[in-house]
Amino acid sequence: MNVDDAIMHRHSTRAFLDKEVTIEQISHILAIASHSPSGANSQPWQVAIISGESKKRLQSKLELAFTNGIKPSPDYQYYPKTWNEPYHSRRIKCGLQLYQSLAINKQDTEQRQAQWQANYRAFDAPVMLLFFIDDVMEAGSLLDYGMFIQSLMLAAQEQGLATCPQAALSDYPDIAKQELGYTTDLKLIAGMALGYEDANAAVNTYRTTREPLSNFCHFFN
Ligand SMILES: Cc1cc2nc3c(=O)[nH]c(=O)nc-3n(C[C@H](O)[C@H](O)[C@H](O)COP(=O)(O)O)c2cc1C
Repeated sequence: MNVDDAIMHRHSTRAFLDKEVTIEQISHILAIASHSPSGANSQPWQVAIISGESKKRLQSKLELAFTNGIKPSPDYQYYPKTWNEPYHSRRIKCGLQLYQSLAINKQDTEQRQAQWQANYRAFDAPVMLLFFIDDVMEAGSLLDYGMFIQSLMLAAQEQGLATCPQAALSDYPDIAKQELGYTTDLKLIAGMALGYEDANAAVNTYRTTREPLSNFCHFFN
């Protein structure tokens, strides 16, 4: 698979086959991703790879927090506090597409809640990744981390694996850190579902669109 194909074919996957991903496969894609660039080669990534019984234990605690109505308390603010245009419209469209693919009515809050809750199980993927960063690192390291995460997704793609990057998995950092025995000087910034795509699942059938270059590029010569 060439790089263009990998980038163009990657998409967020929200339903997975019940098929194991081996430690060797995961280690391979993490090793590839570790070649991502980072400022001063600081390599600020710290990744927890969670599967099997550990995943079951953690996800049940995350789901419980969600169903008990505990307010998410992420270590850092990922989304803007106010959604101005054009971001507001893009966000609405993204949500609509997701719920339409699942034939969930806009008013059906129960089904929407259930779909959101699936985030905390990493959409039942066999592997959940959690991305941590040392809290002394600044915003620049988040740029580095984004590159690492994209590299990881493309390396997964190359192996026939599918992913969904998930901010939702950073909603309850205290629960995750306690469960994993991590100290509070690590910030949880995001997570990811990793596994084999269930290509027959309706939720995996839609594709998001992108703005044309004319909307975000200015050529100067
Ligand atoms: C950092 C990050 C966090 C995201 N968090 C979530 C999430 O919590 N739940 C979810 O279903 N999708 C999440 N997404 C997926 C986006 O909705 C998706 O990337 C976007 O709609 C574009 O679609 P595509 O990935 O299929 O190209 C996240 C994406 C990124 C990059």
